[in-house]
Amino acid sequence: MGETQLKTIMITGVSRGLGRVLALEIARRGHSVVGCARSQEKLQALMADLTRDDAPSSSSSSSSKHLLKHLDVRSDNSMKEFARLLVEERKIPDIIVNNAGTINKNNKIWAVPAEEFDMVIDTNIKGTANILRHFLPLLIEKKQGIVVNISSGWGRSAAAEVAPYCASKWAIEGLSKSVAKELPPGLAIVALNPGVVNTDMLASCFGSNSALYQLPESWAPRAATMILNLTSEDNGASLTI
Ligand SMILES: NC(=O)c1ccc[n+]([C@@H]2O[C@H](COP(=O)([O-])OP(=O)(O)OC[C@H]3O[C@@H](n4cnc5c(N)ncnc54)[C@H](OP(=O)(O)O)[C@@H]3O)[C@@H](O)[C@H]2O)c1
Repeated sequence: MGETQLKTIMITGVSRGLGRVLALEIARRGHSVVGCARSQEKLQALMADLTRDDAPSSSSSSSSKHLLKHLDVRSDNSMKEFARLLVEERKIPDIIVNNAGTINKNNKIWAVPAEEFDMVIDTNIKGTANILRHFLPLLIEKKQGIVVNISSGWGRSAAAEVAPYCASKWAIEGLSKSVAKELPPGLAIVALNPGVVNTDMLASCFGSNSALYQLPESWAPRAATMILNLTSEDNGASLTI
């Protein structure tokens, strides 16, 4: 499947940051976007932008071409319902980007409250597992599909004051490599380090230095090209944008 074939791409955490710009770039190239995040208001704004960016000659109406749902990846039941809805709407994704993520406030591990540690693990690891649990059987049935688990440089290296986040992204690397060994031919799962991009998350850990890094808008075209061109040959890889 090359980039020219129109696909359905699912992106979690699509309301802002990397997920949002990736959704816009992918839709601009004619593909359908399915996404989720917790902020209803931001999803509505994204849908308006996706609709505006659609080519007027598009055969299906924009609102039915894309589907955005107000959902929390931490809820296994919500992800189960999301998968059921996509089957019903005939929008089983060709590519799934597990992008939803969060980071702890910079702090030494003993100063990170238990609830905050749980939030990072529940979102970054268990949120991804919830998606895999309910969506991989659909891709296996179709005998094709690519899963991109968004990792981090901190999934392959370490830094002080972000231990919960580092732990979660190292887990994403291990989870991806392990699941790669379970997939039948035709499917692939990869861990993808997006690089360093100026988003709300970067501002949380880098403070005002985040302004020194690339904007999401300049990152998105490279990310979209890479993601849209992944094949089953990439199964198990740890990649970087
Ligand atoms: N920016 C970087 O330099 C960088 C570097 C390495 C890795 N990453 C990774 O790239 C991904 C995106 O990061 P970002 O920088 O774009 O972060 P961001 O600006 O903080 O955006 C995070 C996105 O995830 C969504 N999200 C958070 N918790 C969620 C939940 N429980 N359920 C559903 N959606 C949820 C947020 O939407 P709501 O709040 O509306 O739910 C938002 O759309 C993350 O996995 C991050 O770890 C980023």
